[in-house]
Amino acid sequence: MSIGVFDSGVGGLTVHHRLVERFPQADFVYLADQANAPYGGKTGEEIVALTRAGCERLFAEGCDVVVLACNTAASVALRRLQQTWLPGYRKQIGRPVNVLGIVVPTIEAATGLPWEHEPEDLGEKIEKVEIIGVFSTPATTNSRVYEIEVDKRRGDVAVFSEPCPELARMIEAGASREELKAVIEGHVQALTKRIGRSPDRAILGCTHYEYVADLFREALPAGLPVIHQPEATADALQRYFERHPEFSPGTGAVRRFLTTGQPGAQHSLVEAFWGGPLSFEKA
Ligand code: DGL
Repeated sequence: MSIGVFDSGVGGLTVHHRLVERFPQADFVYLADQANAPYGGKTGEEIVALTRAGCERLFAEGCDVVVLACNTAASVALRRLQQTWLPGYRKQIGRPVNVLGIVVPTIEAATGLPWEHEPEDLGEKIEKVEIIGVFSTPATTNSRVYEIEVDKRRGDVAVFSEPCPELARMIEAGASREELKAVIEGHVQALTKRIGRSPDRAILGCTHYEYVADLFREALPAGLPVIHQPEATADALQRYFERHPEFSPGTGAVRRFLTTGQPGAQHSLVEAFWGGPLSFEKA
């Protein structure tokens, strides 16, 4: 029994890294769908189909729980898969499997409220609106998931999203830091212009962006708090396993890395983040 972690590419490794630290004895299988990356410019139906195929692959590898370490898959496909596919699939394979996302933990961290929280009607009591800026892929931005879910819980928090159509692909391809810095600065300026001032907090709403979190911090005003998805996801998964003892994360400390793309090593930005060489098997 093991934990599956899924992303279109290497972005999810930023979450995976934190999960491995949090659950050092657990068995993990990471799947990067690099043959189809990036997901951020694809249609909703393509993202649903690819995410489902990734989950099936990880369940076939013996995973019980799959974490979608991809905002695009989580915001576009997760609800659909949980409602329309998973119930029948569980019956078909005859064991209790589940798929979890990273948007819920991020919204919990951003609002400081548990997901199930019943919002109170703040009515005219709102004195000041805090603005959260979200940087994400176009598919995540178009889903408006952060705007909708934060608004349901916190009437005193407004969300503005900035789509970054090229950034995940550039990180996936190992672009230089100079190139990435210019693109990130452009997006921070565009968001600031649209809001009319800087946001009060920021969410890096694409797991690829964690690799360049320092470049986002440099481009944003000094000291602006950034919500980090890897930490939020590890906290949420820990709570999930406490509530669901039927799922065992394993005890063998197995680490497997699969890709639908080119097997072998990843580029230096990824290895530097991981803290050592990483070799991927063909999925
Ligand atoms: N890392 C992913 C995300 O969090 C996907 C990026 C992409 O494939 O476009 O959205």
